[in-house]
Amino acid sequence: MNEHVRSVVLGTGSVLPKRVMRNQDFAGIVETSDEWIRQRTGIAARHIAGEGETTVSLAEEAARRALAAAGLEPSDIDLIVLATATPDNTFPASAVQVQSRLGITHGFAFDVQAVCSGFVYALTTADLYVRSGMARRALVIGAETFSRLLDWEDRTTCVLFGDGAGAVVIEAREEPDGAARRGIIVSRLRSDGSHAEKLYVDGGPSTTGTVGHLRMQGREVFKHAVGMITDVIEASFEAAGVGPDDIDWFVPHQANRRIIDASAKKLGIAPEKVVVTVDQHGNTSAASIPLALDTAVRDGRITKGDLVLLEAMGGGFTWGACLIRW
Ligand code: UT7
Repeated sequence: MNEHVRSVVLGTGSVLPKRVMRNQDFAGIVETSDEWIRQRTGIAARHIAGEGETTVSLAEEAARRALAAAGLEPSDIDLIVLATATPDNTFPASAVQVQSRLGITHGFAFDVQAVCSGFVYALTTADLYVRSGMARRALVIGAETFSRLLDWEDRTTCVLFGDGAGAVVIEAREEPDGAARRGIIVSRLRSDGSHAEKLYVDGGPSTTGTVGHLRMQGREVFKHAVGMITDVIEASFEAAGVGPDDIDWFVPHQANRRIIDASAKKLGIAPEKVVVTVDQHGNTSAASIPLALDTAVRDGRITKGDLVLLEAMGGGFTWGACLIRW
């Protein structure tokens, strides 16, 4: 590992399916209300993939937008790490399908499966390859079509999730020492499989031979979420020698507005520094962080030199955080 090299973010991109489903559109599907969904989750709408829109097609478009933002061509990329729990096929990996659609025949590509923490896991993985010299420029993608895993008769889950994709391009750069040193500063990943039954899919190739449906004990997940999130962020702060006041933007996984607000409050991060998209996107699992990042980059909030904190928690349980000097 070359200590002088950092993985610097060069560009972001994202895409949402065309169809918007508002809370009111659940009328006639399950017994729920706009008021319940907004109060308990902060969600007002989510995008649902239509015919021809898949995890790979959304990932390809997000990747193309990130490449354009970075001023790069697909041929400049030698690694693709794609986080998803909803691949187009059991295999090959969605990452190699994106690689092929982009016309890239060199380098390597693979998927990462950490459900809602997938993007933090993928970014951390890509960062290690880039800093080790095994790759020079990586596309890191979070892409999901969770609508296709949902039980549309289960009101406790089907109102919560949405589809979409986001991507970032990172590049190995020799960054001069000092506080302004850009790139990924620190990452912390955690998992604890003893919580598997609280959030899982009841099917799979080696068990039922079917895709299955998402099952969640929402209250149980909620109970653990804030503690796990704040622990891993505090460990990241300590490793980087920074505190909540140093953070310019907090970009959390977008599962529930109440979890986001409680985590920011417990950490002492000011509300105006928190990027929230859950109201319009719902929970898009591994896509939620890169979707929120791209939103805040394109509307001018996140700019070069900002200290950005990412955090996620989800099925497994898995959880993690990344600190990036933009
Ligand atoms: O990204 C992966 C991580 N996932 C999460 O972070 C999800 C974490 N959990 C949550 O966000 C929340 O627990 C939920 C939003 C899933 C649920 O909120 P809650 O405040 O924990 O509600 P609850 O599960 O305790 O349910 C309260 C009531 C229940 O009725 P009773 O038993 O009190 O009569 C539910 O049956 O709300 C009922 N309910 C609904 N009512 C209307 C559950 N879903 C709905 C619904 N519409 N869609």
